[in-house]
Amino acid sequence: MGEPFIDRYQDNGRILDETWQARPNIYESRLRLLHRALTTKEPGKILSIGIGSGIFETLLSERYGITVAEAVEPSASLGAEAKAKGINVVQSTAQEYDYAGAPYDTIVYNGSSFGFIPDDEIEATFSRNREALADGGRLVLTDVPEESALGILLQFAQKYEINRNDLDDLLVGTTFFNLDTHAYKPNWHPITWYVALLERIGYHDLRFFQTVLSNPPYQKDTVEDPIEGYTKGNYVAIVAER
Ligand SMILES: C[S@@+](CC[C@H](N)C(=O)[O-])C[C@H]1O[C@@H](n2cnc3c(N)ncnc32)[C@H](O)[C@@H]1O
Repeated sequence: MGEPFIDRYQDNGRILDETWQARPNIYESRLRLLHRALTTKEPGKILSIGIGSGIFETLLSERYGITVAEAVEPSASLGAEAKAKGINVVQSTAQEYDYAGAPYDTIVYNGSSFGFIPDDEIEATFSRNREALADGGRLVLTDVPEESALGILLQFAQKYEINRNDLDDLLVGTTFFNLDTHAYKPNWHPITWYVALLERIGYHDLRFFQTVLSNPPYQKDTVEDPIEGYTKGNYVAIVAER
């Protein structure tokens, strides 16, 4: 048994939708990043883990006709929001899920949902995900990297006492402008840490896409299309072949 699940969104199921409404350009850039990553090949049967309130899955369907077959979400309040959007959601963590619909062509963790899984449970979880993937299947992760400007700010805010005014001045243009109510992930690692982990498990042919290259105060101002790589973006997608 792993650590008990802590619901950081308890009774706060609307927070992601409210953040999307307040920062539409960043969500649009993130949607384009996710779409680029999902379509390195035919996405096929998709499982979304840590779907939250289902914002991106709804947009993927409306905009691109890409539908998610199955979704997992441990938070009751967020899962209820996703269900209200018509998505098939099972209440579970990634670690406890039985992967009932395997094999999948694509397993996606969007919005750093894997960053909520304890470090000593992540390797076993990604290994089980690999077993649940079909031949030629892919794991897709999107994250705010630890080493990005946004990642550095959030991680330091979490670890150290920083004057809130200093933080707010910098986070005002980001999706974390609302730190009083907005939960963010507990576990931070650079992209290279995930690369080493995924390759150790057996994933191969990793590809990377990145977006929101602007510095934090300006991130809400424009929509950006994703580019290849992971060294500049405040949001990065990793695509790993089974
Ligand atoms: C930042 S939100 C991202 C939600 C959504 N994917 C998005 O991009 O809008 C992180 C999500 O991971 C979920 N989560 C937390 N711990 C998890 C776990 N152990 N397994 C699966 N999902 C988890 C949270 O409940 C939350 O919905």
